[in-house]
Amino acid sequence: MSQKYIIGNWKLNPKSEKEAVAIVTQIKKDLSTLKYKMIVCPPSIYLSALAKVKTANITLGLQNTAVEDTGAYTGQVSVATALSYKIQYCIVGHSEVRARGETDALIAQKLAYVLKNKITPILCIGEKARDAGHEYFAVIENQLKSAFIGLSKKNIENTIIAYEPIWAIGSDAERVSTPEEFYEVKIFIKKILKEQFGITHTVPVLYGGSVNAKNAGWFISDGRADGLLIGRASVDPKAMRDIINRIKT
Ligand code: PGA
Repeated sequence: MSQKYIIGNWKLNPKSEKEAVAIVTQIKKDLSTLKYKMIVCPPSIYLSALAKVKTANITLGLQNTAVEDTGAYTGQVSVATALSYKIQYCIVGHSEVRARGETDALIAQKLAYVLKNKITPILCIGEKARDAGHEYFAVIENQLKSAFIGLSKKNIENTIIAYEPIWAIGSDAERVSTPEEFYEVKIFIKKILKEQFGITHTVPVLYGGSVNAKNAGWFISDGRADGLLIGRASVDPKAMRDIINRIKT
């Protein structure tokens, strides 16, 4: 079985460090027999406390990064400043960050910066809406091309891609995506990687957007997702336990 991932994007949750530690401690127990790699991306203010929780099976990541190690970047965090918390991953280009004005050019810069620091980027891509004319394929293609432009093949192969259709994310999601919709996009992503960048190696393609215990297993089996990027459910230990149990089989 190729390596599979579960990534918890905690966003700005939970409200206290104590709760953050309790969530990781619980998930750690439930994970024990799962062969997936679990990556938790908490608010960076909790990294120090979470780095002290002994978790052989959970790795920490950042939700975003500045493009330089240090400097005049008020309110930001860089992968370099988080290295002492043993982070190994960093989300780049999440739709909520793109919505606040992050451009494709900045996302490409971040990707290169993260890779330079030997951290694995989790590149988020996805369209705002589904249209009958299949315009979303062009959106996905452009996001991939602009993110990977200028990167070496090796660097692209060291990236995790998370396809998160924006219309399927969050509590106000228009509807939940289907495993078939995901699989179609996964094939398309592989095609772009091969045709545009000569990548034939396995670059993991994850699904994200309203993942829960009901649909998690389907995205892995029918959707052939290489893993899941989970928002809301990732800070709910009970929901995480149900998801883990569904994908174990
Ligand atoms: P959700 O968020 O699982 O709450 O829909 C996913 C994400 O934004 O990464």
